[in-house]
Amino acid sequence: MKHRKSRKLHRRGVSTVLKNKCCIILISKSPTDGLGFLLSCGACISHYTRACVKYYNIIMTIAEFQTACDTIAQEYTEKIAHAADLAAVEELRVASLGRKGALTELLKNLKDFSIEDKKTAGPLGNALKAKLTAALDEKTDLLAAKEINEELNKVDLDLTLPGYPVAKGHRHPLSVAQDRMTEILSQLGFEWAEGPWVEDEKHNFDLLNIPLHHPARDAQDTFFVDSKMPLVLRTHTSNVQSRYMEKHKPPLRIMAPGRVFRNDSLDATHSPVFHQIEGLYVDKNVSMADLKSDLTAFMKGLFGNKAEIRFRPSFFPFTEPSVEVDVKCVFCQGKGCNVCKGSGWIEMLGAGVVHPNVLKNCGIDPNEFSGYAFGMGVERLAMMMLNIKDIRTFYENDLRVLKQF
Ligand code: DAH
Repeated sequence: MKHRKSRKLHRRGVSTVLKNKCCIILISKSPTDGLGFLLSCGACISHYTRACVKYYNIIMTIAEFQTACDTIAQEYTEKIAHAADLAAVEELRVASLGRKGALTELLKNLKDFSIEDKKTAGPLGNALKAKLTAALDEKTDLLAAKEINEELNKVDLDLTLPGYPVAKGHRHPLSVAQDRMTEILSQLGFEWAEGPWVEDEKHNFDLLNIPLHHPARDAQDTFFVDSKMPLVLRTHTSNVQSRYMEKHKPPLRIMAPGRVFRNDSLDATHSPVFHQIEGLYVDKNVSMADLKSDLTAFMKGLFGNKAEIRFRPSFFPFTEPSVEVDVKCVFCQGKGCNVCKGSGWIEMLGAGVVHPNVLKNCGIDPNEFSGYAFGMGVERLAMMMLNIKDIRTFYENDLRVLKQF
């Protein structure tokens, strides 16, 4: 230290320090005696140096600053290592890094340093702070873990015992099948669309070119809702075609999965409630060729690359021409078995080129646009995929059966 003030002040200063901060440092007779610092504790070095500056205008040298840093580091790392509990660590945090802590006090000397010394002292102070913070944090983690373990040890609890098994459900086979189909269709660019289960006759029949007198209504014998409006439980997902085309104009490409209803008695292959997926693609120049290539891609996605399809002429009022689509039996590869009833082919869905009347009814100009549509039963495909022989299996909810899929 460089002593700049009178001896008188020196004595007063020492006595002030003596009164307030009793420690070994005070055996030193003179504030210029560096030895005194080395014997003192970190906090006292800081207080002492501050006192020296205050009373004698003595400025600490950079070497002394460094020594003080080392002393504080050594003292607090030892104390932290020996801290017995979290409260003790917190006390040390305050004593070392707090507002009146050793480091803060020491750093107050910085303002008296030359720019050169500040450049050396700054990083030293930062390093000390980082070192103390790391030691304090490490010790806090250690003691916190120890305290938790001690708490746990007090409880009579064996954490190594296996837990109770959690019953895990899984998706219903119909959902599995429907998800697989919609996933493939979405890869082919079809967007999800939905329509109501309770539907008016207009959207279920009329707009789809099935007028009141038409015998096709008999083929879809359904449940009528007892209401003033002519409402039915929808007989097919084709109602989504009319609803969607009323609101959206081409190009459009949708898939509409959902529940449908028919007045059928329950047996091995029929159910009054079942599921369909409708497909509809309308744009300029859409033809039967698009239908064939897209359905082939769909079947290959579902049954593998070897899947083959064939078209048979059919009739649906909302398509012209109409077709039934068969897939080569995936069980016997077309040789003939009991699933395909010896024919080698399995009927999968109805499809066709959208009838111009349907486009017109829904406000789309059939001279400008054309489209294809298809509708398939989810149960039928699921029965094939999972080799289920009786449709009732899906609805009886016998867990012994459902758990097999
Ligand atoms: N809606 C028909 C049914 O339930 C299935 C169907 C056939 C839908 C041909 C279509 C289609 O979109 O073009 O039997």
